[in-house]
Amino acid sequence: MNVMTSPVAAPVLKDTGLEILLSDGEPHYFNYYWLRDNCPSSFNSATRERSFDIFHLDTAPKAKTAEVTGDVLAITWESEDHVTRFPLAWLEAYKTPQRRPDPADLAREAWYGDHYPDVPRFSQPEVLADPALRARWIEALLVEGFVILTDMPNSDEGLTETAEMIGRVRPTFFGDYFDVRTHINPTNTAYTASALELHTDTPAEEHAPGVQFLHCRANTVEGGYSLYADGVAVANDFRARDPEGFKVLAETKVPFFCEHDTYDMRSRQTIIELDQHGEVSGLTISQHMLDISDVDQELLDSWYPAFCRFGKMLQEEKYMMTFLMKAGECMVFDNHRIVHGRAAYTAESGDRYLRGTYTDRAEMRSTYRALVSEGRFK
Ligand SMILES: [Fe+2]
Repeated sequence: MNVMTSPVAAPVLKDTGLEILLSDGEPHYFNYYWLRDNCPSSFNSATRERSFDIFHLDTAPKAKTAEVTGDVLAITWESEDHVTRFPLAWLEAYKTPQRRPDPADLAREAWYGDHYPDVPRFSQPEVLADPALRARWIEALLVEGFVILTDMPNSDEGLTETAEMIGRVRPTFFGDYFDVRTHINPTNTAYTASALELHTDTPAEEHAPGVQFLHCRANTVEGGYSLYADGVAVANDFRARDPEGFKVLAETKVPFFCEHDTYDMRSRQTIIELDQHGEVSGLTISQHMLDISDVDQELLDSWYPAFCRFGKMLQEEKYMMTFLMKAGECMVFDNHRIVHGRAAYTAESGDRYLRGTYTDRAEMRSTYRALVSEGRFK
């Protein structure tokens, strides 16, 4: 009978770590500090945090003995009266350097200008009542970057409870919330009736907020069409069409600013943002908040033409989703991926009132992971 058994060859003890045969029959090296620090006894089962303090070891950890019995590796230590036991299956997950599997690391789906009828829509009261639907809503945000919530309560609290389904409300230097309607003394183009070119919000912040909520409370003006484009769709096509231009926009950090009487916010960002896989994860773009560039003038010989080619491409009809927001809807979108803007409107022609706020991308991913792996600690 051919029964699969765990390798039983004794681990080989070395100076700084040990080598052990795992299921592939190959020796795998594990560092002693890592083995000691991650001993299952190092973690508090209630807090799920590490309670072991490696700084208090007097000498570098070194195995005195190591043996495999059944499916468990047991290590005794030279300078401690302590035994560490690892299930071999647990070690398997760390035998090659790679990030642990992340349910929130989902492939993005690019969308184009004709996408409006297919935008994922969810009824806000239903999402609020159903955690499984909440997971699908956040998944759509992670994959497509743009969703519409319908049936929003016509109240300030409605926006707060919506944002809090993803995370804490993330203030910017404009405050916890912002109101977009015509202002008498505007400090920002958004607060006028003028057209607003495609942009991402608050690029001058070191970490611009990740998820934007725009709750439409009233929209009866003439004009004022909303414009949205998927930065991932445009940048991926740009990468194919203009690889050199793509490279310079993905690699060069340029200054953004936002200043008025009492604030002077500055940051440096790349126009195109790449994720851990080298895939496009977003953009930072805003002509009205791009500071006077202080990068090398000769680098600008290639950066500016690339920036203009990319900016023109962003405005191509192929990518531009144009529609009128309706009262009771809330646009929820990835502020680092989706560029948004607005056509001009006639201020006197009716009411236009949007109330907005933000949460962070990391909180969105955290909430999603927790929702889709509920019960993982039980
Ligand atoms: Fe905006």
